Amino acid sequence: MRKINIGLLGCGTVGTGVARILLEKKDLISSRIGAVLELKYVADLDTSLDRGIKFAEGVFVSDASKVVDDPEIDIIIELIGGEKIAKDLILRAIDNKKQIVTANKALLASSGNEIFKAAGVKGVDVAYEASVGGCMPVIKSIRESLIGNNISSMTGILNGTCNYILSKITDDGSTFEAALLEAQIKGFAEADPTLDIEGLDTAHKLAVINSIAYGMEINLKDIYIEGISKITPLDIEFAGQFGYRIKLLAISKHRGNFVEARVHPTMIPFRNMLSNVNGSLNAVTITGDDVGDILLYGKGAGMMPTASAIISDIADLARNILCGSVGRVPLLSCQMTNIRSIPILPVDEILTQYYFRFSSQDRPGVLSKISGILGKYGISLKSVHQKGRKTNGSVPIVMFTHLCREEDVRKAFDEISKLDVVSSKPALIRIEDDSEED
Ligand code: HSE
Repeated sequence: MRKINIGLLGCGTVGTGVARILLEKKDLISSRIGAVLELKYVADLDTSLDRGIKFAEGVFVSDASKVVDDPEIDIIIELIGGEKIAKDLILRAIDNKKQIVTANKALLASSGNEIFKAAGVKGVDVAYEASVGGCMPVIKSIRESLIGNNISSMTGILNGTCNYILSKITDDGSTFEAALLEAQIKGFAEADPTLDIEGLDTAHKLAVINSIAYGMEINLKDIYIEGISKITPLDIEFAGQFGYRIKLLAISKHRGNFVEARVHPTMIPFRNMLSNVNGSLNAVTITGDDVGDILLYGKGAGMMPTASAIISDIADLARNILCGSVGRVPLLSCQMTNIRSIPILPVDEILTQYYFRFSSQDRPGVLSKISGILGKYGISLKSVHQKGRKTNGSVPIVMFTHLCREEDVRKAFDEISKLDVVSSKPALIRIEDDSEED
């Protein structure tokens, strides 16, 4: 049986899972692929950590460049993370005509266009299923299974850490800090968890799937990003009282000549299936003109689910090598010459519904002042509620709007925040509720 040599760069949580599958399921995988996948090298700077795996003599090395320059290596798996070193190694491996597997969403979001271009020039494949949604086959579904569809929108929970934190606060009354610590211990969170909680990790993933869904260049910089750090237990409680759950969503909509792409905490009604995706689980709804909605659901982070996606990429590349069909599936779903630069709509121009919470003095005229400003900017209210009792002389006023323009909402908010009757910074959460759109 033909042998395909693999070099693994980075043996942290996911790398250890990949090594484990390659070693422990070697026969199963060979029987399915028709080739032996040989883990020739594992490179990691930390040579002392006990990973619970017994590597054969000479497999574990500390010098990654030795791996990418070895002429016998067929496939390089980059699991180092970060951008600079990982990018240099990937470009060097491409130059050496290695096939590449990476889970590095931050790198693809920032330098994917350059990496895919370099791969195209050298005629090598870059596989990246594990970069979005852990074990869920998001990339394969969009790029291959839905190839005949015009995709009109995608809505996803793509960060296990944020979903875990929001679920723990909502369902168990945990504090933000305690839930984040648990997510870190469980190995979902990024090395720098602000990437998770401030929404950037989700945006990295959205930038990648926007590109393959809509045939556009990868564009991270124009995605609107807002994380979950300002979400309070009070807003989570009020959301529940009105039939909503708060999720950090990646939302994108293809609107002809532009794309709407945003990441922010969002209220979704209980009947939306995404509202039942809890804990560290991920899910994404993809809407195509032939299929309608499909929903992918599964573990978006963690050692073995993410390793499973990496193994699927390795298998695809190994099969391509066996059949001499490298480049069979275009790297970004469209042929590279057909990738366009589609602009992302500035967030000020989006139309959506909103939840507002103001903390204000409980006295006559307050509501009319606030609603007067909202009316001035054409913001149409669906309902207004004064919630709970006075604390420190203030009461929460909760409002739900019909569809309105973000720019108008921002201007109104600025004015309302300056009112002397409004005692603390108001809260604003966008709502996705199709049934309510007018
Ligand atoms: N930090 C990420 C998450 C890991 O929490 O989902 C998977 O990309």
